[in-house]
Amino acid sequence: MKKIALFASGSGSNVQAIADSVQKGEIPAEITILVCDQPDAYVIKRAEKLQIPVFAFRAKDYSSKAEFEREIVQKLQEAEVDYIFLAGYMRLIGETLLNAYGGKIVNIHPSLLPAFPGKDAIGQAFTARVKITGVTVHFVDEGMDTGPIIDQEMVRIANEDTRESLQVKIQQVEHQLYPKVIRQLVTEASRGEGKK
Ligand code: GAR
Repeated sequence: MKKIALFASGSGSNVQAIADSVQKGEIPAEITILVCDQPDAYVIKRAEKLQIPVFAFRAKDYSSKAEFEREIVQKLQEAEVDYIFLAGYMRLIGETLLNAYGGKIVNIHPSLLPAFPGKDAIGQAFTARVKITGVTVHFVDEGMDTGPIIDQEMVRIANEDTRESLQVKIQQVEHQLYPKVIRQLVTEASRGEGKK
């Protein structure tokens, strides 16, 4: 069984969707750690209820990104993590994590990349008055939302949509798409090993 880490900074609705899917037996993996850079975030309460071990930290308690990422890598190694799934983790992944887990880090972003990278992608799409936006799941590289795309799904912006109603639509899509992609990746990785 593959072991996975989830990284989050906020409410954790995607963490919840992934954990629910794991619990239903749809994703053949164990979530062995949640990494969170906001010790007050609601996702930590969710993780406790879900009985997922948590590593929470504050970036300002460290002298550099490399320093806190070294500690994260150590925690991930202790948790024997095979894959990392970023679920609303609002920090650029640095060299230290990429060197340790390159090609094994996946992110979900609330737009059809390469459109609207970075912060507040939903607000950016809404303000740009595009008719179609969506969700992207992609591998993480050193750039900001630039890695190879794994899957995307579109969301239509209706005339009557508000910023808030668009967010609800996008998140509904995220909660389906991310568990589906994770299931595929984990299943393929396990099969690949079976062949060896
Ligand atoms: C999600 O919409 C995710 O796509 C986005 O943060 C939200 C977290 O919500 N991520 C990014 O914008 C990354 N650049 P959640 O905490 O309820 O899962």
